[in-house]
Amino acid sequence: MVDTYPAHVVHVLTVRQNDPDVRAALDRCRSLLSAEERAREARLHFEADRERYVIGRALTRLLLSRFLGGDPRDWRFVTNAHGRPELAVSGEGPPPLGFNVSHTSGMVACAVAATREVGVDVECVDRPLAHDIADRFFAPREIADLRALPASDQPRAFFDYWTLKEAYIKARGMGLALPLARFAFRLAPGRTPTIAFEADVEDIAESWQFFQAWPTELHRLAVAVRRPPEGEVDVRLDGWTPRVDA
Ligand SMILES: CC(C)(COP(=O)(O)OP(=O)(O)OC[C@H]1O[C@@H](n2cnc3c(N)ncnc32)[C@H](O)[C@@H]1OP(=O)(O)O)[C@@H](O)C(=O)NCCC(=O)NCCS
Repeated sequence: MVDTYPAHVVHVLTVRQNDPDVRAALDRCRSLLSAEERAREARLHFEADRERYVIGRALTRLLLSRFLGGDPRDWRFVTNAHGRPELAVSGEGPPPLGFNVSHTSGMVACAVAATREVGVDVECVDRPLAHDIADRFFAPREIADLRALPASDQPRAFFDYWTLKEAYIKARGMGLALPLARFAFRLAPGRTPTIAFEADVEDIAESWQFFQAWPTELHRLAVAVRRPPEGEVDVRLDGWTPRVDA
């Protein structure tokens, strides 16, 4: 447990769904969930989705207890108007920690930060995609930059844009109420991604920091976080091994 979670640190934990240790810990992970969460799990149609949901909720609970203390079973959550889960707090003021979860085929990721304005997205790049997704969702400048790349680089670059765009809207907590084409990422090799907004988007590009990683060769991950007033954020990415006390 830390006394005060540092404003300049984002912890990002990734879990490989097919890790044998993770599979062996699924029942113990499930035991951490609330009745409401278990009911939601039961409503998911596919077993793989149920597993990722359980892992995501257990990972969130374990991380919150790691940094704030207390029993992982005791955390209560509320959802904002766009479905984003947040830590429930009694009384005034923001929650002591912000978090965000993402799941995709084979992986779950959870980011924890001192701010609620943190978002994570992880995508499995080894899957068929409709050929027109970029044209439908990306900003015109992003589409132009993507199409200017050699054809062989475009599939992976597509996931760079996708994960960054999702991480940003998840950090804002607004879901698709914030249209994906109203902001554009600029990507260049060896440079940190930058964002630009259309005039009708109320936000400050310079206040955001972005982070990208390949937690496995098939998984692209992006994090978006609003910088604290005192400057840069240190994003600490790690794999997670289950240690769920019975
Ligand atoms: C719901 C949404 C926030 C993320 O959806 P997603 O990328 O399919 O799913 P992810 O696994 O990354 O994230 C889901 C998790 O985000 C969290 N979440 C839900 N609503 C959220 C919101 N409004 N803001 C932030 N996080 C949210 C939840 O923890 C959820 O996990 P849970 O259901 O286990 O509780 C939203 O961005 C969305 O629907 N996106 C559509 C994706 C798309 O069409 N993209 C086009 C290409 S760019």
